[in-house]
Amino acid sequence: MLVFDAYGTLLDVDAAARQAANEPGMETLKNNWQSLAKGWRERQLRYSWLCSMMGKYDDFWELTIRALDATLEEYALSSDQKIRDRLLSLYSELTAYEEVPKVLANLQASGHKLAVLSNASPKMLETAIKAAGIAEYFDELLSVDVLKCYKPTPAVYRLVTERFNCSPSDVTFFSSNNWDVCGAGAFGFKTIWVNRSGVSWDNLPGKPAHIVKSISEASKLISSGIK
Ligand code: LAC
Repeated sequence: MLVFDAYGTLLDVDAAARQAANEPGMETLKNNWQSLAKGWRERQLRYSWLCSMMGKYDDFWELTIRALDATLEEYALSSDQKIRDRLLSLYSELTAYEEVPKVLANLQASGHKLAVLSNASPKMLETAIKAAGIAEYFDELLSVDVLKCYKPTPAVYRLVTERFNCSPSDVTFFSSNNWDVCGAGAFGFKTIWVNRSGVSWDNLPGKPAHIVKSISEASKLISSGIK
């Protein structure tokens, strides 16, 4: 059973700001789209952790909007409704990382069961996975929304073992997020950290079984025998 995180692992979280910055009328993003995308993503995740700790759940799309609003304010861009609308529209239909569709097709053709486990609400997740053209490869899109709390709460990872009636050690979990790898590893999944940007490991419990730079590198590990 192969389970993938969505944002940052399959879906390119920088794609919205990158694309918007190249469109007419969006000149203000030209020089800062990278740091804006980074700040937006960091806030979105921070909000998810803090909301879980407070026992206050608003869905991931709502947190994504709030994180964008706070980030635009930081960049003195709050009054630019056009930028806000465009970034949100692009974020709802992020592109997949280049290698992703082919790798998923190969894994499926080799007989693997594939699923996504994401913070995104069901509608947000389904829209994004469809727009990225990779929906046909998954047996299931699992969302934290049924639990009203976010990763890395252990109950979230249990959604996989309950849905597929398997034990944690039957699951190989792929994530580009260090902390998500830790959460999944602590639950008992075998983990592969897809360290796309070559950052250093955060010193948290639950080291990954493998570290790769892309999903295609990970799929080579799978074909060579790790289950
Ligand atoms: C997700 C976030 C963590 O897809 O990227 O769950």
